[in-house]
Amino acid sequence: MSWAITNPAMPSSDIINRKRLLATLAGETVDRPPFWLMRQAGRHLPEYRTLRDKTRNFLEFCYTPDLAVEATLQPVRRYHPDAAILFADILLIPDALGQPLDYLAGEGPVLEPIRNADGLTRLSRQGIHEHLSPVYETVTRLAAELPDDVALIGFAGAPWTVATYMVEGGGSRDHAHTKRWAFGDPAGFDRLIDLLVEVTIEYLDRQVLAGAEVVQLFDTWAGALPEAAFRRWCIDPVRRIAGALKNRHPGLPIIGFPRGAGQSLTTFVRHAGVDAVSLDSTIPLAWAADVLQPLVAVQGNLDPQMLAVGGSAMAAAIDDILAQLGGGRFVFNLGHGIVPDTPPEHVAALAARIKQKA
Ligand code: CP3
Repeated sequence: MSWAITNPAMPSSDIINRKRLLATLAGETVDRPPFWLMRQAGRHLPEYRTLRDKTRNFLEFCYTPDLAVEATLQPVRRYHPDAAILFADILLIPDALGQPLDYLAGEGPVLEPIRNADGLTRLSRQGIHEHLSPVYETVTRLAAELPDDVALIGFAGAPWTVATYMVEGGGSRDHAHTKRWAFGDPAGFDRLIDLLVEVTIEYLDRQVLAGAEVVQLFDTWAGALPEAAFRRWCIDPVRRIAGALKNRHPGLPIIGFPRGAGQSLTTFVRHAGVDAVSLDSTIPLAWAADVLQPLVAVQGNLDPQMLAVGGSAMAAAIDDILAQLGGGRFVFNLGHGIVPDTPPEHVAALAARIKQKA
């Protein structure tokens, strides 16, 4: 398969100098909206499942650059999106801090929970970047191997979401332990959030030094918090991370994904210091165009289940999103990650439909 740029209307040098995602995030106009998909790598691809079978342990998979590079490139070969996202996981940070972590088939991540400020003594920042160095190596190799028109996205979990996994000991429906700690002992919970802010700044700084051109902060459980808590534990940590990264790397584009934030997205985009906000599938398009898009670029928000359905229903939903958001700063994506039983042909059809808009 060749990496040649296929748009004959544009001289290749122009595209090489202006990757669509970077141009859009910088507020420039492009021939068509850039697209990439959350969880574009992973279990929906048969070639990922084959690769994944080479290591029983998912952490070991993430820490093996040969495998992580290949997993990142697989969807790029199939769909040629405008960006590749580093293959890793948001829970590498708790792992690097020394919190025992395992991924159980069918159950997801399981950690030894930390339920209060006393538990913080079990975490240590010592040697974390040595521990995480395979991730930086993966980024370095990807920066060299990706096609010239594909941007490289680095990422981390936002502190609140990473904290929920650390406190609950895994995924959870109501985040009861995390909220009770946060609401009952806010100063103690701040110590966990502060630690995650500091470590995440260093982690993303190193990804950028290794070649990541954009970073995205995933705050999957941002929608679980009431307003004041959302400001304190979702907006403020992201603002501190974005501010520190921009100090070190002026012009670095940063995408925030406060999933489930609803109307609080306006406060988020005003105060978090991000260049773009990723919208979940429930966000009304006309509202996003009126209220959010004048302030930042928006990314989203096809329902991943619509991608699993495919066909004319998906085509109509894609066209509606493009019609309502395509006039402003816009990156096409899903509202959350690809679900594992999504047929790759549906993803290919989505890619073709976006590219046809050029
Ligand atoms: O293509 C990509 O998006 C890049 C890789 C990526 C993974 N995880 C790989 C992964 C990214 C960006 C993530 C982020 C992530 N991880 C989030 C935030 C985004 C979201 O989906 O809400 C969260 C909450 C996690 C934590 C996590 N990792 C869970 C809850 C699980 C188990 C459930 C699941 O989806 O499998 C994981 C495991 C995981 N991370 C897998 C992959 C490909 C599956 C592991 C496997 O192959 O067995």
